[in-house]
Amino acid sequence: MPPVNAIAVIGAGIMGRGIAHAAALGGYRTILEDLLPAALRKAESEIRINLDKAVELGKVSAPDADSAFRRIEFAGSVGDAAREADLVIEAVPEEMESKIEIFTLLDKICRPTTILASNTSSLSVTEIASVTYRARKCVGMHFFNPVHKMKLLEIVRALETDDDTLATAVEVGQRMGKEVVVIRESPGFITSRINAMIGNEAFYMLQEGIASAADIDKALKLGLNHPMGPFELVDLVGLDTRLSILEYLHKSLGEKYRPAPLLVQYVKAGRLGRKSGRGVYEYPEPATTDKPAPV
Ligand SMILES: NC(=O)c1ccc[n+]([C@@H]2O[C@H](COP(=O)([O-])OP(=O)(O)OC[C@H]3O[C@@H](n4cnc5c(N)ncnc54)[C@H](O)[C@@H]3O)[C@@H](O)[C@H]2O)c1
Repeated sequence: MPPVNAIAVIGAGIMGRGIAHAAALGGYRTILEDLLPAALRKAESEIRINLDKAVELGKVSAPDADSAFRRIEFAGSVGDAAREADLVIEAVPEEMESKIEIFTLLDKICRPTTILASNTSSLSVTEIASVTYRARKCVGMHFFNPVHKMKLLEIVRALETDDDTLATAVEVGQRMGKEVVVIRESPGFITSRINAMIGNEAFYMLQEGIASAADIDKALKLGLNHPMGPFELVDLVGLDTRLSILEYLHKSLGEKYRPAPLLVQYVKAGRLGRKSGRGVYEYPEPATTDKPAPV
């Protein structure tokens, strides 16, 4: 099993930039790529801010943070990012067509030994891998948001994933500071399946007028000991991402995952969560505010 030295991350949105941060802190040469130059610029400044915060909190030493930051390169095309990578982690939006497009391209560009991983929250890695000539070397690496803080990494074994690929993904995840669970592929894995169900139910309650969003969040935090309420969480995740997951679970697992009409309506209105400045709650400064402000 060849060692992993360089990791390319495709997509520099909420997840891609966090994965790049963790990979660089793990000591890997890290190459981050996005279609949009603005997304790359935002990623660069946020990674720097988050590394500085980690230094302030005493979690990382200043020299380690600086070295990690220097390990990150920014690329303007998938080819430039992935050509020299030993592992590519795809973090583009949760749509099967986008994943398939990227994996088809990666399969052509990358060395035959390169492992291709998807950060999909719910989609079939087997289906994504099927467009490549290296399904054995494809795996799911499902990180959590915010990646630099969240401990868990779900590693998804697709139908054809071989033992070496799985072992490498586990080793890389651990070096990135994560606790790993390995699961056999199933829609939504462990966490997205349960989380989508809770979050969807919360939207049905809101739409039925049972309680305010703030009270539903309060009830789950104080009564069920959840660290965040379902609406705080969906605003962090992105309502569009949550809707895509629910649509996929609905299609693959049945009626109980039908997306709540209110969630669909919010997405149509452009209320996507923190990233757009408004989701269930409003965020006057989306990039920097820590606490949701109930509307
Ligand atoms: N948001 C979460 O909490 C969360 C948690 C775990 C997993 N995920 C998964 O991670 C993936 C990414 O989600 P996100 O929340 O980071 O999305 P996002 O919308 O914040 O970022 C996606 C990025 O991909 C870029 N992009 C789109 N098409 C591209 C292409 N062809 N090539 C290169 N870049 C491209 C976009 O410009 C954008 O910057 C999804 O599969 C999602 O399900 C999300």
